[in-house]
Amino acid sequence: MSSVSTYTTRHFLGLKGVSAEEITSILDRAAYWEHNPSKVTNQLQGKFVSNLFFENSTRTRFSFELAQKRLGVDVLNFSAAESSVQKGESIYDTVRTLESMGIDAGVIRLKPNGVLQELAEKIKIPLINAGDGNNEHPTQALLDFYTMRKQFGSIKGLTVSIIGDILHSRVARSNLWGLIALGAKVQFCAPASMQAPELAEFAPYVTFEEALKADVVMMLRVQLERHDTGLLNSAEEYRAQYGLTVERASRMAAHAIIMHPAPVNRNVELDDELVEHEKSKIFTQIAHGVPIRMAVIERALS
Ligand code: CP
Repeated sequence: MSSVSTYTTRHFLGLKGVSAEEITSILDRAAYWEHNPSKVTNQLQGKFVSNLFFENSTRTRFSFELAQKRLGVDVLNFSAAESSVQKGESIYDTVRTLESMGIDAGVIRLKPNGVLQELAEKIKIPLINAGDGNNEHPTQALLDFYTMRKQFGSIKGLTVSIIGDILHSRVARSNLWGLIALGAKVQFCAPASMQAPELAEFAPYVTFEEALKADVVMMLRVQLERHDTGLLNSAEEYRAQYGLTVERASRMAAHAIIMHPAPVNRNVELDDELVEHEKSKIFTQIAHGVPIRMAVIERALS
């Protein structure tokens, strides 16, 4: 079976192999939408987009819906719990059904790896990745880049430390591919049980002390729902060894920022006091999700 590129004109599956120019053009278009005074436009009036979330979400789902409504799109929200998936219908048959009804694009989040790629080979309408197993989460990484670019002016030359559950993180992977393309240096920090060895050739694993010297300290959520037993002894032990505590944050550079894709396990990977600390960009990241997703939807439907 032939594989579909992560970034074809039809689908938007990931950032691996996507050029700096393509990423920059999405960030620039997001800036246009962020500063557009119209809350709602008729840019994509008459288009139907379905949000197909087969895994839970708050930020991604609602920011896609806000983005769609700001663009004048008619939104069809699909909930697996209330659908014929409960009768055993497959993900492919579900998406194919909505395609047959005439939707123009699908925003899709899936738990198992590989299914999105298979769908993309068969489905003709554009599919936008809203979180694909531990493979990629490209719109999260784009909003992260948008936040870094606004903070520092440019991403080229930045050092970004990604700390935590790399093994299960689609956010880490999309950030890695995009940040390399944009000229940043990426380094990982994780306990041995949460490392992804296949990524070590692209970003070195460093100590926490080294990771704290970066311009961006990006903490990841410990993804308890994806863990087999034995990866995590206790939340307290994780915080002591790999959490960004107030004391550790006090040793970051004066200009450096804290990022986290959220949801946050407070007092596990990040101390409660740091979530809304002056160094933290967590809620700024969330706000940037709307213009970024406007730019991505517009691209898919244009
Ligand atoms: N960051 C993120 O993807 O959050 P949700 O799971 O709430 O969408």
